[in-house]
Amino acid sequence: MEGVGASLGMGIPARAFYLAMRIAPPGMRSRMWRRLYQRMSKSQLDSNFRFMNYGYKDETQAPLEDGDEGDRLFIQLYHMNIREVRIENKDLLEIGSGRGGGASWIARSLNPRKLVAVDYSGQAVKRCKEWYSHQENLEFIEGNAEALPLEDESFDVVYNVESSHCYANIPKFLGETFRVTKNGGKFCWTDMRDKKTMEKLHDQFIQAGFTVEYRRDVTKNVVDALDLIDEGRREMIRQSAPPSLRKSFETFGGVPGTPIYEALKEGRINYFHYLMTKP
Ligand SMILES: C[S@@+](CC[C@H](N)C(=O)[O-])C[C@H]1O[C@@H](n2cnc3c(N)ncnc32)[C@H](O)[C@@H]1O
Repeated sequence: MEGVGASLGMGIPARAFYLAMRIAPPGMRSRMWRRLYQRMSKSQLDSNFRFMNYGYKDETQAPLEDGDEGDRLFIQLYHMNIREVRIENKDLLEIGSGRGGGASWIARSLNPRKLVAVDYSGQAVKRCKEWYSHQENLEFIEGNAEALPLEDESFDVVYNVESSHCYANIPKFLGETFRVTKNGGKFCWTDMRDKKTMEKLHDQFIQAGFTVEYRRDVTKNVVDALDLIDEGRREMIRQSAPPSLRKSFETFGGVPGTPIYEALKEGRINYFHYLMTKP
């Protein structure tokens, strides 16, 4: 990720990953992210591990059922991203749905007519198809954000949570997002970038044809969530990863003291939320 240098404190596999990222051409970077998430989905079979984002903490409490409380901060990142948009009876698309926890919560709690969730990792999609098969308004599809296997103008709301930093070609992703969104439809985006890359991305949103309704820097909310998640995440990593990989998993997980967390805390990387409309 731009704005994060490879450093000793990352753990050797994560350091090698970020170093390779810096020199690899964009297409190869995208394949490296895919391989990482494929491996994670293959090795982490625990169906309680349903989110791979950094979380969000603020005063607005998303209305949750008891069974979702343990995932509150991860769900709140999703809730924050879409809460200004009407969801009920609408057709939704999530791009980069990971282990499906966010899509499952939205499909269950906010009553969209249909929610299609796409991820590049076939392994993650396979897990989601097993775990959420009982949800009738929810469908998981394997696909690349840069070449979506979906019809033109078929969704009222498209959303994307902490996934686009993995993509090789952002204009292609935005072109595809614009193509599948209905006229008047919404695009809700949240992820992290360094300042220069975010300025470029802002222009790319507009070049793709979207109108920016508003943008917000939500870094503090995300760092607050990472602080609260810290202990649970370290414990989960201790239980599920071999010692040689723990530091690297902590780095990818944004655990306090690791480089991405420190970059967020010091403002070298910021976490943003954009709400956009296709005119
Ligand atoms: C950090 S995880 C976030 C997952 C999920 N949004 C969440 O909040 O739990 C990033 C996800 O983006 C997916 N991804 C990466 N590159 C992609 C691409 N080109 N097209 C679609 N999904 C992609 C990865 O497979 C991974 O599941």
